[in-house]
Amino acid sequence: MKTKKPTFDTLYINVRIASMRAGGPDYGLIEDGVMGVTDGRLSFVGSRADYIETHGNAPMDAHAEGTVHDCGGKLALPGFIDCHTHLIFGGNRAREFEMRLSGKSYEEIARAGGGIMSTVTATREATQEDLVKTALPRLKAMTSMGVTTVEIKSGYGLTLDDELKMLRAAIQLESMTGITVLTTLLAAHAIPPEFKDNADGYIDYICAEILPAALKDDLIDAVDAFCENIAFSPEQVRRLFAFSKAEGLDLKLHAEQLSDQGGTELAAEFGALSADHLEYLSERGVEAMAGAGMTAVLLPGAFYTLKETKLPPISALRAAKVPMALATDFNPGSSPVQNIQLIANMGCLLFGLTPEEAIQGITLHAAKALGIDAAKGSLEVGKDADFCLFDAAHPAELIYWTGGIPPTDVIIQGKTLAL
Ligand code: NIG
Ligand code: FE
Repeated sequence: MKTKKPTFDTLYINVRIASMRAGGPDYGLIEDGVMGVTDGRLSFVGSRADYIETHGNAPMDAHAEGTVHDCGGKLALPGFIDCHTHLIFGGNRAREFEMRLSGKSYEEIARAGGGIMSTVTATREATQEDLVKTALPRLKAMTSMGVTTVEIKSGYGLTLDDELKMLRAAIQLESMTGITVLTTLLAAHAIPPEFKDNADGYIDYICAEILPAALKDDLIDAVDAFCENIAFSPEQVRRLFAFSKAEGLDLKLHAEQLSDQGGTELAAEFGALSADHLEYLSERGVEAMAGAGMTAVLLPGAFYTLKETKLPPISALRAAKVPMALATDFNPGSSPVQNIQLIANMGCLLFGLTPEEAIQGITLHAAKALGIDAAKGSLEVGKDADFCLFDAAHPAELIYWTGGIPPTDVIIQGKTLAL
């Protein structure tokens, strides 16, 4: 007699599902839920009553349904997506932190050759192996708070070899951990000493050398730049974006962080996925984002660390229905914060988001910011089975406990990660 293949590889029962599906009120919450996983994807998401109605039998029949996992009433949320990080770098900037506390600004330190450039020096000195070794515990710390997908930028190498070294380290981390990694080329992060007073020449070098090599070895998903008076002008970004777009790459931009440069309008013109930071975003910038269907990536960790006082225009973004994502911006200078749940808490307490907006910001809207919302960001049939289980009665608890709640289980594409 043939044994019937179970309908699901794994069935999660007795779970409260905060599905975060688009338009679903109240976190898309499903009480007494059931999730079926087949080949790493969600093949059923609904209540026990829906399950019994559609499948006609009790979901506890292990023989018929593969492995049945009783979640004991725990809360499931989509795996968190940290859509803006600089996870890979050499050294740290604790001394600069001291300088800032004694009154020097981020901009002054950068102009004096510190800031990003000091991390560039340390990153150039590191081997790919060194970079992986120092980044691995950081990535594990992120996952221990529920992150299942992380975007990692280059941008501390600023030479062909050093940028590719960073990107290769990021990809190596993905294969070592099973955590989904998206890589972004941020060669236009700072002007390297080799191109002092020649930012245009450096943009040419990125387009002629770094970008084609990164593409050839399939090392990048997107291109980003730092549009700011201490970095690249909108015109320089325009050249980089035109070139990158012609290569079919997704675009993102560090925009309006320290001043209003109109970078966001430029990014909108190119159909970029997101503009990130946005403290100095104008009303025109908000309209441009809405018109282009962009996502606003808010980075309260940098706002907090730099003791910024100008808030991003949250009410205007909300009114214009621009999706708002939240990310750590984890980096050694402006945001040495790796806890995504703490960022969600800051999104509420510093930026005035609601807890539901904050959780959207680290799930569905973060997926949008990376252009992966068809596969990730909410718990819906057909999407990847990326989720975490929490000992919590309600999603708002994760935001309310400052620093969050570590998940008891992290599942990525149907596989439970060893924490
Ligand atoms: O997103 N704004 C520019 N880049 C990073 C800071 C990087 C650094 O200070 O090392 C950011 O905040
Ligand atoms: Fe950043």
